[in-house]
Amino acid sequence: MSRLLHRRTVLAGIATSSLAPSGPSSTLPGGPVQAATPRIRYGAAAMKENFNEDPRYRAAIIEHCDIITPMNDLKWEALRPERGKFNFEDADRILAFAQKAGKAIRGHALCWYNAMPTWAQGLRTGAEAERELRQHIETVLARYKGVISSWDVVNEAIAHDPTPTRPWRDTIWNRLLGPAHIDIAFETAARADPAAELVYNDYDYENVGPRFEARRRITLDMIRRLQAKKIPIHGVGIQAHLYAERAIDEEGIVRFGADLQALGVKMLVTELDLIDWRLPADIRQRDIAAARHVETFLDAASTAQPGLPVITWGITDKYSWVGETFPRTDKLAARPLPLDESYRAKPMMDVIQRLRRA
Ligand code: XIL
Repeated sequence: MSRLLHRRTVLAGIATSSLAPSGPSSTLPGGPVQAATPRIRYGAAAMKENFNEDPRYRAAIIEHCDIITPMNDLKWEALRPERGKFNFEDADRILAFAQKAGKAIRGHALCWYNAMPTWAQGLRTGAEAERELRQHIETVLARYKGVISSWDVVNEAIAHDPTPTRPWRDTIWNRLLGPAHIDIAFETAARADPAAELVYNDYDYENVGPRFEARRRITLDMIRRLQAKKIPIHGVGIQAHLYAERAIDEEGIVRFGADLQALGVKMLVTELDLIDWRLPADIRQRDIAAARHVETFLDAASTAQPGLPVITWGITDKYSWVGETFPRTDKLAARPLPLDESYRAKPMMDVIQRLRRA
């Protein structure tokens, strides 16, 4: 544990009395610059490789962020390459950096079907899965108690296209334990670190249509189920890998935020980036369209729950999963993040900073 200080920088605790109406404020060309109260806190996910090799990357994170999330280093694959052995070195390096810089830290992710080491894909029985899941969460939280203040406890448990009879994704956890794996994960996390903010994290909450509504409804039902069993859940993370070509359901987001609030649950934006594969090639046009889309989304989310944390999934276009996962047919590089490949602030960063300072 050596270099990690047991000091918690708290993510929560932002004044919710400052319920600012989402006025017509805008930092995009032609828009007035004005807003009355702090609307978001901002952070970024950091990748170990870039973090270790690129001093400008570290400097950008220090300059712009309040919060840091290790992008991949707290996943099972990274922490547990072998059964019965935990490798904390890579995560510790980023966490020590974040602490030294006085940043709050979010952890991602304690229970996910993806990024599982080969040995864990071979779990065979419910009892074995439950034992490993509990042991994993207890070990990781014991180590990072007082260091990581907010955790994605369960990631992506909802089916991509859920139906009333099949709301959950077909994963190793769901096959072996059913939806009770969610209860087990949250219950274990709450006991292992009672002070941590415990978050359910998923994608496709923010657009218009029945599939997105269903995902919001299933999330709210799941929270009610956990609460009925007195299992704590403190937040829902909207990943927000936003597709530029899909309309944002502003009203749906505001309603979701209010529904969560009524249950005493916070909304977070945990993996924001902009998938620009369908946007025009022209860089200026593309960056402005991207920023407008992000602005529409963040205005709704920060109206729903003012002061919410907003984490982008990376910080510079130089390094992002979007270009590989959602390639453009014209082969141009993706521009999904707030800084360009040379670390210049794009209109998306202006939107974020306007909301952060507002
Ligand atoms: C992605 C990372 O960005 C990549 O570097 C990695 O190779 C694969 O995972 N939803 C999640 C994240 O919850 O963990 C994923 O991150 C992106 C989708």
